[in-house]
Amino acid sequence: MRESTVFDCLNIDLKQIKTLRGGITSVEKTNDFLFDFKRVYYLYDIPGGEDRGGHAHKDLQQVIVAVSGSFDLIVDDGKAKKTFTLNSPSKAVQMPSGLWRKLVNFSSGSVCLVLCSDIYDEKDYLRNYQDFLSFKLINQ
Ligand code: TYD
Repeated sequence: MRESTVFDCLNIDLKQIKTLRGGITSVEKTNDFLFDFKRVYYLYDIPGGEDRGGHAHKDLQQVIVAVSGSFDLIVDDGKAKKTFTLNSPSKAVQMPSGLWRKLVNFSSGSVCLVLCSDIYDEKDYLRNYQDFLSFKLINQ
């Protein structure tokens, strides 16, 4: 989506069920979610100091959760940037397509869960920042 901005990202509180035996959070397709998810992937065993992401998607929408530990999600629409700190399995950020994103400051042992609106397709990626700015029709 060419017109999306960082202000289109949504903070979502996921329902948390706490029991004496531990917590449960389930993510269901409800009105809170604007898209049907077709893929789930997760990032783990991230070496200290390593960053992830560093790309944008033309069409893919995503919901990002720190199911364990914490990290910062930096979104960038070519004009403005916004940082979301994810540090709870019951908090998520929903991202529209067309935003450059970077995941940084992973705590040791953290796990990043990503719900996606579609299956993996390398053609949907913008992996070069200049290509991303061109996609957003931003003069460089
Ligand atoms: P990449 O998108 O570069 O990782 P990140 O942006 O999270 O740092 O993906 C790393 C590799 O994994 C790359 O070769 C593409 C592949 N991959 C899949 O095959 N399927 C997937 O669902 C994802 C997210 C990545």
